[in-house]
Amino acid sequence: MRIVQLSDIHTGTTLFRPDFLEAAIEETNALAPDLVAVAGDLTTSGYRWEFEEAKGYLDRIECENVVVIMGNHDAKNVGYVHFEDFFGPRMRSMIVPTREHGEAKVVALDSSKPDLAEGEIGREHYAWIDSEFRGWDRGPKILVVHHHILAVPGTGRDRNNLRDSGDIMAILRELQVDMVLAGHRHVPYVWSVSGVRIIHSGTVSSMRVRGMIEPSYNVIEFGTDKVEVTLRQPGGGQEPLARFSRQATTTSEIYPELSRFVRYDETSG
Ligand SMILES: [Fe+2]
Ligand SMILES: [Fe+2]
Repeated sequence: MRIVQLSDIHTGTTLFRPDFLEAAIEETNALAPDLVAVAGDLTTSGYRWEFEEAKGYLDRIECENVVVIMGNHDAKNVGYVHFEDFFGPRMRSMIVPTREHGEAKVVALDSSKPDLAEGEIGREHYAWIDSEFRGWDRGPKILVVHHHILAVPGTGRDRNNLRDSGDIMAILRELQVDMVLAGHRHVPYVWSVSGVRIIHSGTVSSMRVRGMIEPSYNVIEFGTDKVEVTLRQPGGGQEPLARFSRQATTTSEIYPELSRFVRYDETSG
């Protein structure tokens, strides 16, 4: 299964680089991925014209399965109403046909809170996530969410991660979710914790960069034996970012039931 993961487009200011986004989309089309995951922050301030501009570019992606989610910037100025107009529901589940695995289950949701930089999945969504992933054995299980669950190095002081990251990690471990695709920090990095691989993409088309990290996006080859993540600079070079085995290798077990730590609210969906 080939996935292109891009995020943090950030239209709306002079820091936006349309040439990078155009190059990334051209390269994506040449790669013919099974899935394109756009992990939030399409805009800078959540204005309608910023969404319109982002949509104009994303419409050029030639892929049957494109999933787009909100980021915290898109939630500024009540931007979620525009997001829904252009991109539809802010949470969704898809079954994506793949080359090697049959089908992948992709669950994507909005972790933003209006006008806050930090994010939250929210207890009201736990049961839905569980019902989507539990028992799925037809291929990879992939969650797409904007905020980082684990801290990303090289990003300075961490003040705006997913506020319920502990609960979410326990749920993802319980459900044996293969991968989380996230953005937000503008620094590409991969963690593998208790069998859950958390893959962060950088900013694809913005000069809102940190330190020496340049704009980039990720290409993920999810094979039958191994998973390889390649970092690509739009219109530029590429380098390996991470590699891990297809089957989760975890060196730890946790014995108490999940419900000892996390209870689901009944309201969900
Ligand atoms: Fe961002
Ligand atoms: Fe963000």
